[in-house]
Amino acid sequence: MSLSKIIAIANQKGGVGKTTTAINLSSALGVLDKKVLLIDADPQANATSGLGIITKNIEFTIVNIFKGDNDLEQCILKTHSPNLKIIPGSIKLSKIEINVKNPNLKRLKVALDSLRNEFDYIIIDCSPSLGYLTLSSFVASDSIIIPVQCEFYALNGLQKLLTTIKSVKTNFNSNLDIEGVLVTMYDGRLSHNNHIISELREHFQGLIFKTIVKRNISLSEAPSFGTSVLDYKVSSEGSTNYLNLSREIMKNQSFKKQKTLGKKIPQILQETKEDVSFIATEKERNLNNYKPFSLKHKNFDKLIGCTKNEVITLLGLVYNDIHSNIWMYRISEKTSMFRKKFLYVYFKRNSVKYIQLRRFKFR
Ligand SMILES: Nc1ncnc2c1ncn2[C@@H]1O[C@H](COP(=O)(O)OP(=O)(O)O)[C@@H](O)[C@H]1O
Ligand SMILES: [Mg+2]
Repeated sequence: MSLSKIIAIANQKGGVGKTTTAINLSSALGVLDKKVLLIDADPQANATSGLGIITKNIEFTIVNIFKGDNDLEQCILKTHSPNLKIIPGSIKLSKIEINVKNPNLKRLKVALDSLRNEFDYIIIDCSPSLGYLTLSSFVASDSIIIPVQCEFYALNGLQKLLTTIKSVKTNFNSNLDIEGVLVTMYDGRLSHNNHIISELREHFQGLIFKTIVKRNISLSEAPSFGTSVLDYKVSSEGSTNYLNLSREIMKNQSFKKQKTLGKKIPQILQETKEDVSFIATEKERNLNNYKPFSLKHKNFDKLIGCTKNEVITLLGLVYNDIHSNIWMYRISEKTSMFRKKFLYVYFKRNSVKYIQLRRFKFR
């Protein structure tokens, strides 16, 4: 009996480490003696070029699979790593994403199911969207790895992703599971990185991988040499991180995971709903009473209860991403980069729940 497992790597946000994870997890599993097939389901085809394959020279790609071609074997290419093969991506995928002639969310599933006997793991690098290509990948997969970049708006967009996963699970693929949430680009020198990790742990409980991928220069250099980090620099921390992730996934597979969708996820979904229906009551608020925001006036407590729009009116645009529920303002520029003070404004249901004065510092 084959242990084959199909894992999609997805987050509709770009630049969170999907492709880096797809390439290096696949290679690391290969190094650990597993037979692996990497599917490049992103029109940008970064996983393909990152493994040194020049996309314009290839005839058969993932596009053939989405078009329903039967001859799968011609789409499977060898890579430098003996245990790793790839179905390359193609810019032509973008046409399929926008204009599906005969939409069939099960086409990829049917194709990949027929390859289950040949591989231990099939890893899908998804595109940064929640369109046809990514949905097809979810329908085809046993589980999903969600990479999140260790930054303040890490949670941003995850509700939508989880809602999508839930709806695919309900409508097409009842086996679909979340393999884990993978923290990427962690930088231990920044104290707010640890804060983010505890926040993620609180939200996702057992769903966060124990392995955390650190920010590592070799991981970003390897693709320009057309290879995984394990071939580029096996002694790097990036190699270690992805080998550990592989071991964790292999171990998870031998135990039945304790739960699908983590305990708090329904709560998160619930909160999303409330967010949407929440209509801020027009409070009597004289915005002109606020002095320009400064440490000296220490007037930030008055922010509690303000709506997002009011905070923007008062404080101007935020330093960090305004779409998440934690906004971050830099409020002193005098000191060094790692000693700057920041005001963190936490929202719940569109109004300020609490605020906190913090500063970056070396650990
Ligand atoms: N752990 C890491 N350390 C350093 N750079 C990284 C790391 N992970 C990803 N990167 C870099 O960040 C950028 C975005 O990563 P990528 O994997 O392409 O994200 P996505 O596929 O989600 O868009 C790339 O330039 C990549 O080399
Ligand atoms: Mg990518």
